[in-house]
Amino acid sequence: MKLEFPKEIERFGAIRFGGLQKIFELDSGGKTNGKSTRSASAIQNVSSEALSEIESQMAIVVPVRNERLKLIEGVLCGIPHPCLIVVVSNSPRSPIDRFRMEEDALRDFCIFVSKEALIAHQKDPLIAKAFAETGYTNILNEQGEVHDGKAEGMIIGTVLAWLAGKKYVGFVDADNYFPGAVEEYVRVYAAIFALSRSPFTMARIAWHSKPKIVESKLFFRKWGRTSAQTNSLLNRLLAHYTGFETEIIKTRNAGEHAMSMDLATSIDYSSGYSIEPYHIVNLIEKFGGIVESTSPDLMNKSVEVYQVESRNPHLHEAGDEQHIEGMYYLAMQVLYHSPICPEELRTEIYQEMRQKGYVGNGSPPAKPRYFPPIQTIDRSLFTEAIKGAQYAKIIKEKIR
Ligand code: GDP
Ligand code: CO
Repeated sequence: MKLEFPKEIERFGAIRFGGLQKIFELDSGGKTNGKSTRSASAIQNVSSEALSEIESQMAIVVPVRNERLKLIEGVLCGIPHPCLIVVVSNSPRSPIDRFRMEEDALRDFCIFVSKEALIAHQKDPLIAKAFAETGYTNILNEQGEVHDGKAEGMIIGTVLAWLAGKKYVGFVDADNYFPGAVEEYVRVYAAIFALSRSPFTMARIAWHSKPKIVESKLFFRKWGRTSAQTNSLLNRLLAHYTGFETEIIKTRNAGEHAMSMDLATSIDYSSGYSIEPYHIVNLIEKFGGIVESTSPDLMNKSVEVYQVESRNPHLHEAGDEQHIEGMYYLAMQVLYHSPICPEELRTEIYQEMRQKGYVGNGSPPAKPRYFPPIQTIDRSLFTEAIKGAQYAKIIKEKIR
C-alpha cells in the first residue's frame, strides 16, 4: 500500500494527531526487507508482505446486533486471512435464535476458508461471571448481565483479542455492504502499524464518501451533518488549549478504527455509541497534560493518532434521523462531562442541548457509563472463568 505521510501534525501533550492521509495505491506489491520502505519522502510504501506480517498479529472485532446475515458474510469475506476474527453479538436469542444463525454462518465460513474464528454472545453468562470475578463490574447491569451497547461488545472483543495474545486490535462494523471496503480498512490499519514508531498507536478511517441517491442519480456525499458537528466540537476543544483554530480532527465517530493492544488496554471507555468520540476526549484527558493524568507512567510515551481517508465509498445500513441525532447528543455528553472541557464550551454545549430539546430547563445532561482500562483485569482469573466456552478453547490454542 502506498500512502501519504501526514502533512499536518498537531502536538498535544504526549499526543500527535496526524492530519488526513490519502492512499495512492491499495496494493504496492512485492517484498521488502524490513518493515517498510520509503519511496519518496512524502509517500510511504508498505509491501504486501509487511501487511500480512502485521495482520497475523491483529484481531478484527466485528460487533453485531441484529444485522442481516448476508451483510455479515460479506464483511467476513473482506477481512484478510491472517487476521483473527472476533465476532461479538448482541442479537436476540428468541423467538428466533439469531445468534445461532450467526454462529452457523461463521462456522461455514471458517470451514470454507480453513481458519478458526471466535464468536461470543454479549449476554454469555461466562463472560459476565469473568467480569464480576475480576471486578470489572461497571459493565454489568442489575441482573448481572453485560449491558447492551456497541462499546460493551467492543470491550468484550478487545479482552478476547488480548487474551489471545494479539498485538493489535481493529474494528469493523457488521453492516457494511462492500466487502472490498472492509478489506481496505484492515489493510490501512496494518499499514499504519507498520509505519508507526510508537507502541501507542491508533488508526482511524475517514470515509471517502457515502453514496446516496439524489435526484435519481448516485451522489457521493463527503461530509454528513452530524460528522461535521462532532468534528467541530472536538476541534474547538483542541483550539481552546493551543490558541490556534484547527480542523485536524476528521474522524469523530470512527466505527472503523484500530489500536495497538498497549493503547487499547490503557485507555478508559464509555458506553454505547459514545465510545468513539470519547476515544479522542479520553486520550486528551490521559495524555494531553491538561489535567493530572490517571496514568502518569504513560505521559512520557508518545501516542500517535493517524487518520486515513479510504478510497472505497462507505455504504452501510442507514440509521434513521433519530439514531444520528442520538450520536451527536452522546458526543456532546462525553465532552460536557469531561474535566478537560473548558467552561465556555460547556455552557455552549448545554445551550445547544437545551435548544435541541435534549435536556429540560435546569436539568443536567445524561451521562454515559465509564469503564476503566482493560489492563486492570486479571488475565488468569478471567481465563479461568470463561474456561469451557468454545471461544476460550480457540484462545488457548492460539497462545500455545
Ligand atoms: P452506525 O453505523 O454508527 O450508525 O451504527 P450501527 O447501528 O450500524 O452500529 C455499528 C455496529 O455496531 C454494527 O455492526 C451493529 O450491528 C453493532 N452494534 C450496535 N449495537 C450493538 C450492541 O449492543 N452490541 C454489539 N455487540 N454490537 C452492536
Ligand atoms: Co452502521
